[in-house]
Order: sequence, then structure tokens, then C-alpha cells
Amino acid sequence: MEINAESCALDLDNRTTLLDALREHLGLTGTKKGCDHGQCGACTVLVDGLRMNSCLLLAVALDGAQVTTVEGLSSDAVLHPVQQAFIDHDAFQCGYCTPGQICSAVGAITEAASGWPSAATAQERPVGSVALTEAEIRERMSGNLCRCGAYVNIVSAVAEAAEAAREAG
Ligand code: FES
Ligand code: FES
Repeated sequence: MEINAESCALDLDNRTTLLDALREHLGLTGTKKGCDHGQCGACTVLVDGLRMNSCLLLAVALDGAQVTTVEGLSSDAVLHPVQQAFIDHDAFQCGYCTPGQICSAVGAITEAASGWPSAATAQERPVGSVALTEAEIRERMSGNLCRCGAYVNIVSAVAEAAEAAREAG
């Protein structure tokens, strides 16, 4: 696999999930284990640009895939705009869900900009031209739970990052 833009060869038991490969074999503990069965979103990473629950993926099935974790979003000590927005909007309390929320938001903003429909929009969105409403952000982020209930500030952070991405084209 390519993990955070670095080629990586792993010799794993074929039952190892991507989540355990990241945390236990590569020391990338930014990706969190919440439920370990696809219900909370704490383990969300980007696989070939799409957000996925890493607890539900077998690492051996991802031979050749490009995986991005929360550690791989920043570059040269500069935070990704979504990471910065979460800080600016104080969009966390304990922070346990935050890496998954951030990876999911990066994926959600890309999906919305590329015209993927959501239940809230109910139809194809015009590519890149429409700001995300609060309802759409909440629907697109609904796979990521926050036990601290920091949802109001998470929505503000995602809205700001989405708007900045939209303005940047
Ligand atoms: Fe993967 Fe909860 S740990 S969805
Ligand atoms: Fe604590 Fe979300 S900030 S679970």
C-alpha cells in the first residue's frame, strides 16, 4: 500500500483490518478505534480518495491502494484547511472522534464539490457551485458520531472549510 504518500510493504495475518494495520503495525495512532464494527466513524480514513471505515476493511484487500490518514493531511507542518477549521471553531471536546471527523469532512467536501448527491439534496448537485447547507453537512457527516456532542461547532468548521474550498475552485 501507499500510506500517506509513502510506499509501505506489510506482512500481515490475512484477518488484520486496515485499522489494526495502521495502529498496531505502523504506529499511526491518529486513526481511532471506537466501536470496531462500522458504527461510529472514529476510524475513518481516505482510501483512493474516498472515505471509509478502516475497521471494516481487510488490509490484504488493499494491495496497491493509496491510504490517507489524519497524519497525512498536513504537509510541511502546515495543517490541512479542515484541520485548521476544527481548531478555529473549537470543534472538539475530548478529541477522540476528531481524526475521523476530519477525514470524513475532507471526503464529504470533495464528494459535494464533485456533484455526489446526498439525502439532504435528494438530487444531483451542480458540480462545485453550491454552498453546503447545515442540513447537508449534517447528513453527509452522519456516519461520524461524537459522544461529547460537539456537533454545532463541527458543522461550523466543515461549513467554513467547504466554503473556502468552493471559493478556491
Ligand atoms: Fe470503525 Fe467505529 S471503529 S466505525
Ligand atoms: Fe469527544 Fe467527539 S469530541 S467524542
